[in-house]
Parts: sequence; C-alpha cells; structure tokens
Amino acid sequence: MDFKTSESTSMIGSSVKEFAARRIKPFSMEWDESQEFPRDLFKEMGQLGLMGVLVPEAYGGTGLGYEEYVEAIVELSKADPSIGLSMAAHNSLCTGHIMAFGNEEQKRRWLPRLASGEWIGAWGLTEPNTGSDAMRMLTTAVDKGDHWLLNGAKCWITHGNSSEIAVVMVRTGELLDSHGISALVVERGTEGWLQGRKENKLGIRGSDTHSIMFQDVKVPKENRIGEDGFGFKFAMMVLAGGRIGIASQALGIASGAYELALKYSKERKAFGTEISNHQAIAFKLADMATEIEAARLLCFKAAWEKDQHLDYTLSASMAKLFASDIAQRVTNEAVQVHGGYGYVKEFHVERLMRDAKITQIYEGTSEVQRIVISRTVLKG
Ligand code: CAA
Repeated sequence: MDFKTSESTSMIGSSVKEFAARRIKPFSMEWDESQEFPRDLFKEMGQLGLMGVLVPEAYGGTGLGYEEYVEAIVELSKADPSIGLSMAAHNSLCTGHIMAFGNEEQKRRWLPRLASGEWIGAWGLTEPNTGSDAMRMLTTAVDKGDHWLLNGAKCWITHGNSSEIAVVMVRTGELLDSHGISALVVERGTEGWLQGRKENKLGIRGSDTHSIMFQDVKVPKENRIGEDGFGFKFAMMVLAGGRIGIASQALGIASGAYELALKYSKERKAFGTEISNHQAIAFKLADMATEIEAARLLCFKAAWEKDQHLDYTLSASMAKLFASDIAQRVTNEAVQVHGGYGYVKEFHVERLMRDAKITQIYEGTSEVQRIVISRTVLKG
C-alpha cells in the first residue's frame, strides 16, 4: 500500500495553491457578499489546465487523473469553495458525461472548448419536484424525426446562467422506467432555452446557481449522448464520479477552516498564553486534524479506484458522506476557536461554515449516499 502523494499531484497542488492565493482568496469575500460569479477566472483556470484536467490531450485537455483532480479541488476550495465547485461540476458532470459516453464526433466537437475554459458546462438532472428521486423527472424529449422536441425545467443548476452548453437528462420513455431517460446536449442560444431564476443561497454564494426552462427546444438528433434510454444509468455513473469532486470540495473546506483555526490559536492570547496552549483548544485541533486525515484517505481511495477503472461507486459515496459531515463539524469548531471573530465576515471561517452545509445536500444528499452504501453492504 502506497500512501505517498505522487509528484504530479504535489505539483498541481502547489500551483493551484499559488494561483488561489493570488487570484481567488483576495476576492472571495467580495464574490460572497455580492453573489458574483467570476466568469473570466475560468478562462485563466483553463489556461492552467484545470478546466480539462481529466480530458485526454487529444481533445485539448491536460490528461491527468482523479488523484490530481482531487488535489486541485481541495486547494481551490480552501480558498473559495464556490470556485472548487465550479471546477468539480464542469469537469466531472458536463465534460465527464460527454467524455465517458459521447461518440468520437461529439468529443471532438465539444471537449476542446470545454477543456480550454472558453465554454463552461452545466449538467441538468434535478427538477423542482424531483431531487433525490431523480427517476420521476418530467422534462420530456419527443422524437420528431429529424430532431428532439424538448420541454421542461431543471433547477439548482450550477452554471445555469453562465454555461454555453448543458447535458440535460430527459424523459424519452415511460415514467419510472430507468430505461426511459436519455441525455441530450443543448447549446445556449438554441431557441426556447429560457433563463430561470437565480438562487439566493446561504453559502457558495460566488457560485452560479440558476434554473433553466426549455420551451419547445429543437435539439438536433446527433446531440443525444449514447443510446436511447441509457440516460439514467449514465447519469448515475457520472454522479458517482461527481461525488468524489464534492467530497474533495468538503475536504478543502474542512482543511481551510482547520488551517485558519490553527494559525489563530497560535496568535490569540487568553489567560496569559496563546489559546493553543489550552487543552480545550488543542483537543479541538487534534480532532479536526484526525477527521481531515480520515476524509483525505477516503477521497484518495475513491480517486485511486476511479483511476484504476475499478468500481468506485461505494467509495465515492462513503467519501462524500464522511467528508461533508466532517466539513460541518470542523468549520463549526473552527468558528468556536475564533470566538466572536469567527462570527464576523472579516474572517474566512464564517463563510466556510456557511459553505460547508451544501456538501451534505447536492450531488446526492447524505441520505442518498446512505442508500447507495447500505444497498451495497447489504448485498454482501
Ligand atoms: N452505476 C451504474 N448503474 C447504476 C448506478 C451506478 N452508480 N446507480 C444506479 N444505476 C442503475 C441501476 O443498476 C439501475 O439499472 P436497471 O434499471 O437496468 O436495473 C438503474 O440505474 C436505476 O437504479 P436504481 O434502481 O438504484 O434507482 P433509484 O430510483 O432507486 O435511485 C438513488 C437510487 C440512489 C436514490 C438515485 O436516484 C440517486 O442517486 N438520486 C440522487 C440524485 C442526485 O444526486 N441529484 C443531484 C443532482 S446533481 C447536482 O446536485 C447539481 C449540481 O450542479 C451540483
């Protein structure tokens, strides 16, 4: 068993850390306050190779693996989890879906622009009345001979406003038939793609979260990914990879909060000494460090399985379940270590605590992860 971080993972970690310190951290509070999505930043991230980190070089990507992907998201999320989310959702959901299941022509058509950051991708599964129960989606695509006629609405879409392209899961068959769902690629600008509302969120406020409506949208026949009826199965597989990204985001949030708490505890004095000298604080730091290390091992195990082309579904759900829970606990304790200063906006821990909550909700709630895990363990 080898626990050593690879050279390429360390390299990407330090270059993303340097980038985040210069181009993200100084602005993250402003983006949080104004709910601004910094679109141009993603062009710079494209130049750094982060927008196509998993895409093979033949399609304009960086051609790295999940291990490097995890490390990059952790470093981005330490500075600003909204940016970590964008990298995760863009790479593993939209781009990942096309990369894993698209045909050669589709990959050549869409991947280079996604990998360069020229285009940002969205991925639409959730609908106003179907979150965890994704199979009950009502958005439909009707076969009209030379095109699909798409109608419906998708909500909570990361990059719902800024994306140039979306992979959209649609019903092409019977309700509740897992083989009655397909995936279509829709390009912005197609008539009938209507912009829905912007969500005013508790956390990840620098992330673009919008609804999208589709009204009689004509989608070319060649834009379907994979065979008719394979949409749900493929979406579940894509989501499993996506969950490694959210676990990494949660790990980054916890690590960022821990680093701030550690630093503060060595500076702040109370009762005649630095507060880190009080066991009440030192034990909190010990618990945080232990939980972060455990989450890190789970994230890298899932990443390793994905890179080895093993079944990573169970590990991805375990990593997401655990990392999102510890992100909650660690950020809460980090605020506690900061005392009153942790409760105000000048200190990043306040935002990290708000940002942590979503990791227990999106790309499958903690309850959904427990469904996935318990089904697998009960099968034996
Ligand atoms: N790999 C391969 N196939 C899979 C699979 C996987 N990981 N998971 C499910 N499948 C297949 C099953 O084998 C089954 O195939 P058959 O019908 O051929 O047997 C089919 O998919 C249906 O699977 P289930 O019977 O397990 O489906 P279910 O309705 O019971 O759902 C669920 C189970 C786990 C709750 C699932 O619906 C789920 O994961 N829901 C949560 C959805 C979710 O994560 N939404 C978040 C959207 S993304 C987001 O948050 C937006 C963002 O931008 C961040």
